[in-house]
Amino acid sequence: MEKTIKEFSELLLEKIKNKKIHIVSHYDTDGITSAAIFSKTLERLNKQFSLKIIKQLTKTEIDAFPKDKLIILLDLGSGSLKELANLNNEIFIIDHHEIELIDSKIYILNNHLFNNYENLCSAELSYLVSRDISEENKDLSNLAILGMIGDTMEKDINKTRNKIINEANVKIKRGLLIYPSTRPLDKALQYSARPFIPGITGDPKGTLDLLKEIEIEKSGKNYKSLIDLDEDEMKKLVTAIMLRLNYHESSKELEPTNLIGNLYLIKFLNRIEDAREISAIINACGRMERTEIALMLCLGNTSARKKAETVYLKYKQNIISGLKYIEENSKIQGNNYIIINGKDKIKDTIIGTLASILSFSSVYKEGTIIIAMAYNEDKIKISTRVAGRSKSNKSLRDLMNHVTACLGGESGGHKEAAGCVIKKNDEERFIELVKKKFEYETITV
Ligand code: C5P
Repeated sequence: MEKTIKEFSELLLEKIKNKKIHIVSHYDTDGITSAAIFSKTLERLNKQFSLKIIKQLTKTEIDAFPKDKLIILLDLGSGSLKELANLNNEIFIIDHHEIELIDSKIYILNNHLFNNYENLCSAELSYLVSRDISEENKDLSNLAILGMIGDTMEKDINKTRNKIINEANVKIKRGLLIYPSTRPLDKALQYSARPFIPGITGDPKGTLDLLKEIEIEKSGKNYKSLIDLDEDEMKKLVTAIMLRLNYHESSKELEPTNLIGNLYLIKFLNRIEDAREISAIINACGRMERTEIALMLCLGNTSARKKAETVYLKYKQNIISGLKYIEENSKIQGNNYIIINGKDKIKDTIIGTLASILSFSSVYKEGTIIIAMAYNEDKIKISTRVAGRSKSNKSLRDLMNHVTACLGGESGGHKEAAGCVIKKNDEERFIELVKKKFEYETITV
C-alpha cells in the first residue's frame, strides 16, 4: 500500500505543476474532512484551487466540471468511472467506495484496489497522500480521525488506522457511546439521536427525571460530563437507559456492547473534544447545506465554531421534529414494509438519517423495510433501510435500481441501505411500484 500511495502522490505532484486545480468532494464528514486535508496540503504547496462540495456526483455535476482544470475527486467518483472517462480533463480520484475498474486514464487511489485490503475512509487515504507529500502535514491526522468516525469505522482498528490514531495523539477511553461525552450529561442525553431514547431524546423534563432517579446531581452550575462519571454512576446510567430503550434482543443498536465502547478524545481548536461530537457537527453542517462553515471549522477557523454549533442545533431540532412528524402522520403500512412520505416537511438531506434512526430503534418490527421519501424541489429523495438486526433476503440496492429502471433517476447503495432520486411527478407511480413489487414478491415466494 505504501508504494501505491507514494506513486499516486508523486504522480499528482507532477501533474498539478502547471495546472489549475478543481476539487470536488462529498458533503458528509468523510468528504468534508478529505476536502480540508487537500485544501491545506495544496495551500502549503502554494497551489491555487477551486473547490465544490456536493451531495452526489450526478451527470449534471459532471457536466459542470471546469473544462480547463485538473479535477481531484474526494470520497466519490468510483461509481462514475464510465461517465468520467468521457471527459478530457485529467482526473485524480481518492475514494473508498466500491469500484468497478475500467480501462481509463483516470488516476485512482481506492483501497478496494490494494493487494492487501484494509478498511479505510477517504479522509484517511487523503491524509496518507498528504503526509507522503510532506511530513509537515502530519498535523492533519486529526481530520483523518474525524472522517473515520464520521463513517463509523472506529470499531475496526487495522494497522494503518492504528498508525494514524497514534500520529493524531488520540486518547481512547471506554464509556457510554452517547455524545458529546465532554459536555454536561443532561444536554448529551437530551440530544441523543443514536440511540433515540424514548422519553429522554428531545425531552428536557424526562432527562432531568432520569438523572434524579439515578441520583446524579449538578456539580456546581452544570451536570458532570460522561467522561467524568465514576464507575458506579456509569453503571446506573446504562441500566436506566437500557430500561428506557426497552432493550430486547432484536435491536442491534440497543445491545449493551453497542452502548459501551471507545470514546475518541482529540485535540481540536485547542480543546479536548469528543471526536464523535465534532464529526457530528461537520456532518450536520453538510446536511444543512452549510458546507462552507464545516470546511472553515476543519481548517481551524475559531469563529466558524460558533456558527457550526448554531447549525448543529438546528440540525438536531430538524431530526427531532422529523421523527415527531413521522410519528404523528399517516404512513403506508404493508405486510413487511412501511412507506413514510415526509413530502416538503422533512429535508431531503436528513431523510436518510431519519430512516437509519428508525431502523436502529425498536419502532418497527424486525425485518420491516423502511422506505422514506422527501421532496427536493422537483425531485424526491428516497432512502431505504431494514429494521432490526436481521439481514434481509431482499437487496435494497436492487429495489432502488428497479425503481430507477422503471421511472428514471439515479440510484445506488448497498444491500441494507440504499437510496434513489426520482422526479416529483412520479410520486404516485413510485408508491404503486413499491406496493406491486412487494405484493408480487409475497405471492411468488
Ligand atoms: O441517502 P441514503 O443515506 O439513503 O443512501 C444510502 C446509500 O445509498 C448510501 O451509501 C448512498 O451513497 C447510496 N446512494 C446512492 N445513490 C443515490 C442515493 C443513495 O448511491 N441516488
